[in-house]
Amino acid sequence: MTAAIRPTEPKDLAALAQFLIRIYKFDPSDHHADLDLLEWKYLSQQPEGEGNRSYLLEKNGQIAAHCGICPVTFHLPTAATVRSVTMMDWAADPSIPGIGIRLFRHLMEMAPTSFVIGGAPPTRMIISRLGFRLMGNVPTYSAWLRPWREFRTRPMTGRSTLRLLHGLTHPTRARTNRAGEWACVQVSQFDDSVLPLLTNSKRKWTFCQRTLAGLNHLLLCPRPKMQGFLLKRRGDLVGYFVIGSAGWESRVLDLVVDSGDAEDWSVGCDLVTKAARLNPEVCRIRALAAVPILRRALESNGYWRQYDEPIMLHDPSDLLDHAFPVSFQFFDGDSGY
Ligand SMILES: CC(C)(COP(=O)(O)OP(=O)(O)OC[C@H]1O[C@@H](n2cnc3c(N)ncnc32)[C@H](O)[C@@H]1OP(=O)(O)O)[C@@H](O)C(=O)NCCC(=O)NCCS
Repeated sequence: MTAAIRPTEPKDLAALAQFLIRIYKFDPSDHHADLDLLEWKYLSQQPEGEGNRSYLLEKNGQIAAHCGICPVTFHLPTAATVRSVTMMDWAADPSIPGIGIRLFRHLMEMAPTSFVIGGAPPTRMIISRLGFRLMGNVPTYSAWLRPWREFRTRPMTGRSTLRLLHGLTHPTRARTNRAGEWACVQVSQFDDSVLPLLTNSKRKWTFCQRTLAGLNHLLLCPRPKMQGFLLKRRGDLVGYFVIGSAGWESRVLDLVVDSGDAEDWSVGCDLVTKAARLNPEVCRIRALAAVPILRRALESNGYWRQYDEPIMLHDPSDLLDHAFPVSFQFFDGDSGY
């Protein structure tokens, strides 16, 4: 029996989709196995030098394990950078014990550090054996935009009425927007004007570096529909954000306010919420908030803490000893699509 690890190619996509449906027990119509999404996620043009984003371990010509990777570069407050990867769509044929771990170990070698946010309990157990350690929890915050509409749109369950009551009693807070100094402008693509925000940041905490190519690739995601916005104050560019909307829900994929001022972040969150509300179908919006300034900003806009997920880190050379908290967002992984 021969086994080989290799990058996923266009000809593998249909078999990969079937493999994910089988291992994750997805409904065949589940968008996570949609060929357009997999093509965009794993095969469409990636920023230069990034390498492949999806790997297969084959046995006798059949997929026995799959793992996708999302490369991330941490930008530390010292301006040092540390490369990392996080894993997505990790799946293995249960008839070949340990084969998924073999592929996972191989991909861990691709960067000096790796991390996993959330993940199923068995995954956490397996990766703690591989040397990952718990770095704390990262909360996800949500805000109700149209609780009545959500009540009417989603299938009725025992939770529907409780959800509606929660929505009606936790409205978002409208802000004065500092006498209209701030505005957000939708863009079909980001251009060079955002580069100073990506490179010379005023943020004093560890953040995940973005590239122009990476942001514009995100905007091409087939589902959810992504929208990019520039944040301006008195006409000056001070940030940007990307939201993705599908059906009744929006997610904040990335939000940058180039400021260490909590009030600026709060106004930024207000504009994110208002932009999501422009879509009449959207009933709720969700954001990952790994740093205190973003948490406080969301809370001041009426967002509530919906759930927490653990962050597991593999850092054998202790490169990230003083780096946490890191401002992870849904961009860093595949939780946003
Ligand atoms: C996670 C996964 C890729 C690991 O694949 P693998 O390398 O073949 O590993 P195995 O399935 O042999 O499991 C490794 C260990 O985890 C345990 N394990 C696996 N699934 C488990 C489960 N659902 N509950 C409890 N333990 C589990 C196994 O018993 C084994 O323990 P052991 O070494 O003490 O015998 C594979 O189990 C899988 O595809 N799971 C379904 C998809 C999934 O949940 N992916 C991760 C999403 S975050």
